[in-house]
Amino acid sequence: MGYTTPYIIKALSDNQQDVDRERPLLIAKTREAHQVANTVESQRDWFLAQPTGADPRFYEPEYQPMLYAFDDFSEEYSSAPKVIEALTALGLESFMTLSKSSAINHSSVIAPSHLPIDLAWNDALDYEAFFDEYWPLLNPNGGLMIFHNTVNGCPKCAMFVKQLKLKQVSQFSDFELLSFFEPYKLHQNSYTVIRKITAFKEHFLDWDQKSITESALRLIDKH
Ligand SMILES: C[S@@+](CC[C@H](N)C(=O)[O-])C[C@H]1O[C@@H](n2cnc3c(N)ncnc32)[C@H](O)[C@@H]1O
Repeated sequence: MGYTTPYIIKALSDNQQDVDRERPLLIAKTREAHQVANTVESQRDWFLAQPTGADPRFYEPEYQPMLYAFDDFSEEYSSAPKVIEALTALGLESFMTLSKSSAINHSSVIAPSHLPIDLAWNDALDYEAFFDEYWPLLNPNGGLMIFHNTVNGCPKCAMFVKQLKLKQVSQFSDFELLSFFEPYKLHQNSYTVIRKITAFKEHFLDWDQKSITESALRLIDKH
């Protein structure tokens, strides 16, 4: 937890506001399309109307995003203690659940309604243990795990990434991996993003008109 936490939470809140604004528009344009003959033109009009190109399957579930922060407040210089103050000032405190502990052995804090995890970010310690505990909880359809201070960091952290690469070439590969540099910094100047793709299918193989139509109809039925 620290300086970037309120920015991430603001992004969650903005995203939720976008969905709340766009869902009624999607329902309205779907209702309209449902009342006219199903033709190539009416499908195009539905697609182009606001929110353009929105996939009903994304808008169908009611979803309350939540950031789970694990911080034991062990680092004196950390801005973690100020985060709650900042979130309260912004009225965004309901988007965060704080556990004053290590993330290791505490994944049970995460409510079943918030699983699977879409993004797990480790900016502290214990990368291997974190990976072992949280990888099974990560969304198999593109969930992201990010580790700070990796390839350009301490030898142990760099070795962690090397081990992952070794796993990628020597075992069944269910992830993609990319490391980035932060060249303007003397410390914590790289991070590695791992994307879980166990259940990911290329979209062009999955452009399933039947499931899109069924989802759109469920949306207008429900509202
Ligand atoms: C580098 S800061 C995180 C900054 C944050 N990612 C940001 O950019 O806003 C690391 C934080 O991890 C916490 N920390 C260090 N060791 C920890 C551990 N074993 N378990 C939980 N938290 C820990 C520290 O108190 C500190 O607030």
